[in-house]
Amino acid sequence: MSSVSYELIGDIGVIRLNNPPVNALSQGLREGIWGAIKNAQGDASKALVLVCEGRTFIAGADITEFGKPPQAPALSEVIAEIENSCKPVIAAIHGTALGGGFEVALACHYRCAIASAKVGLPEVKLGLLPGAGGTQRTPRLAGVAAALELITKGSPIPASKAKSMKLIDRAIDDDLLEGALAFTRELITNEAPLRRVRDIVIDPDSIPEGLFDDFRKRLEKRSRGQLAPQHIVTCIEAAVHQPFDQGLAKELDLFIECLLSSQSAALRHLFFAERTATKVTGLPKDLPTREIKSVGIIGGGTMGGGIAMNFANVGIPVKLVEIDQTAINRGLAVIDKNYTISMQKGKLTEGQKTHCLSLISGTTDYADLADVDLVIEAVFENMELKQEIFAKLDHSCKPDTILATNTSYQDIDQIAAATNRPQDVIGMHFFSPANVMKLLEVVRGSQSADDVIATAMQLAKTIKKVPVLAINCYGFIGNRMLHPYGRESQLCLIEGSTPEQIDSVMQSWGMAMGPMAVGDLAGLDIGYKARQGLSESGRGDPKTYCIADALVEMGRLGQKSGAGYYRYDPETRARSSDPEVLEVIEAQAKRQGVVRREISDEEILNRLTFALINEGAKILEEGIAQRPSDIDVVYVYGYGFPPHRGGPMHYADSIGLKEIYEKICTFRQQHGDTYWTPAPLLERLAQEGKTFAQWADGKI
Ligand SMILES: NC(=O)c1ccc[n+]([C@@H]2O[C@H](COP(=O)([O-])OP(=O)(O)OC[C@H]3O[C@@H](n4cnc5c(N)ncnc54)[C@H](O)[C@@H]3O)[C@@H](O)[C@H]2O)c1
Repeated sequence: MSSVSYELIGDIGVIRLNNPPVNALSQGLREGIWGAIKNAQGDASKALVLVCEGRTFIAGADITEFGKPPQAPALSEVIAEIENSCKPVIAAIHGTALGGGFEVALACHYRCAIASAKVGLPEVKLGLLPGAGGTQRTPRLAGVAAALELITKGSPIPASKAKSMKLIDRAIDDDLLEGALAFTRELITNEAPLRRVRDIVIDPDSIPEGLFDDFRKRLEKRSRGQLAPQHIVTCIEAAVHQPFDQGLAKELDLFIECLLSSQSAALRHLFFAERTATKVTGLPKDLPTREIKSVGIIGGGTMGGGIAMNFANVGIPVKLVEIDQTAINRGLAVIDKNYTISMQKGKLTEGQKTHCLSLISGTTDYADLADVDLVIEAVFENMELKQEIFAKLDHSCKPDTILATNTSYQDIDQIAAATNRPQDVIGMHFFSPANVMKLLEVVRGSQSADDVIATAMQLAKTIKKVPVLAINCYGFIGNRMLHPYGRESQLCLIEGSTPEQIDSVMQSWGMAMGPMAVGDLAGLDIGYKARQGLSESGRGDPKTYCIADALVEMGRLGQKSGAGYYRYDPETRARSSDPEVLEVIEAQAKRQGVVRREISDEEILNRLTFALINEGAKILEEGIAQRPSDIDVVYVYGYGFPPHRGGPMHYADSIGLKEIYEKICTFRQQHGDTYWTPAPLLERLAQEGKTFAQWADGKI
């Protein structure tokens, strides 16, 4: 059956697209539209309406065609056919008109949409730019400043906003087709002009001096090191200064450059990785899950409060258990403050805030948790305390309540052993700030029931998180890998580097923050306290922590005390270098018998990232992570790893495992084998000339 049909309703030709599930612009659909427009040129119609069946307008390109030989007609040909039609073409939008779908709409002479529709050009999120005129037509309709924001951010906007930006001409209240036909009749009656967006001229004098340069500088901060956003600016600049066809040619050139770039390959990898991560190998797809209609949270501190917000945000009531009323009030006040900030940013209305807050109540009584479907424990990182709490939960909660812990490191099985229902116990490891960070590491204990795992994975989706499944081990996936990364940053520091150099290398490479700045943000006392609880041998080589310990002992706990590896302005929190820190580093190096030397930026980058990758390889071999792409999702969504590098394992594949293996062997010669023994899987794949991705494909 053809995916495009044509019907004459009165003197209006209606072109209906039907390519389930999302009317993606696959070859068949492109050909169908192209043919329908061509055929309609000579018939009795006076205008044409382009409308979609199913749940949405054209939601975008057919991503499965990426990387395959192009098949005619190209989208640009279809779009030219629409724009050159001798009769006005009106796009009737519902659902989402995204990417190529919105470019098709922009090529139409008029656009109408129902209120719930969303439109946008999200290509930048895949390291691309709109390659079928989006960068040329959007500024012609919406103006340059609005187009720059829309296309470099890539987030869809509601129809009402699109209308105020002149990207939509008419809002339709009820039935889309009826509304679109009425709008079209009006256009026919009024003999509305055949308005081709390409013919609109942007007056270069209307562009404020320095607009493009300023925007580029802003992007350097917002999308550091990324190619596509900068290319989008160049395209929009071309829309102002060059004739339409030249602008289009520029757009195509830069689109191809993006398409072939390693950045886009990395972002497309992540797109699929995020979707694959939700799948649990070995669990039937239709396994019934447990219904979660209410949640209890133990501990209303930094994490508990943020976790509570996630559930309230989607309408699930939360009972927050704290030690006393003062702690309850403190926790609720922080939640209130966070909602107020969201409101001030325009992300929430007053009514929504009130509703969310009404869903969160505080208690000190575990008996109040008798009926909840899920409890998430988020108290201090202390095994005895956690076990005590799980024993109480076992006693207080109804059978089948899922008992989850947000622990960062503790053994899930040991926690489960405090209950008589280890099958109902699981790790749900959120990341700070828990109401913002997208990652949820779901940690399966040795006895976690299949339906408990499936429920946790599904629930992540409900609360808009990206879940990744890990098997119980010290630090799970993310924190276990962070350990060697942190170790190398400490060793580089004592061997000759500075906090500024290390952070600047990692940040310019794309990390959201460098490791020293992260330490200051989280609080240097956290690691210090954890080390205090370990034996001397458990703490490892003092070179890997003596600087941090010395800083803590000086009262430099990080941002919260106004100083850590850096000094922080009490008002603005702006950080500055502190010569005192260098003195501490030099004194510690002397004490440890380390002769400081110059360390190159390249050495810092390689030591930190290759330490991550080597640990990642061990995690894969041990089966802690289901697949290399899951590790990538963990690092990008939980640890600020640059998305355009695809995550540590994709990054490793992109530079070649042989090169990494050889470099690790060099590090072993230089620094000994305590830290630099290549993971057996890495060694094997390097020798076989394979990638982690190929290994995963062969295995799964
Ligand atoms: N902070 C982070 O970045 C982060 C990230 C991921 C996971 N975690 C983990 O989350 C857990 C909580 O960390 P946090 O940073 O939110 O700690 P926090 O110190 O901010 O909060 C802990 C809260 O637990 C409460 N509490 C203590 N004992 C209690 C009890 N018996 N009953 C009820 N409440 C009790 C305390 O009053 C406090 O408000 C820890 O296991 C930690 O490892 C923390």
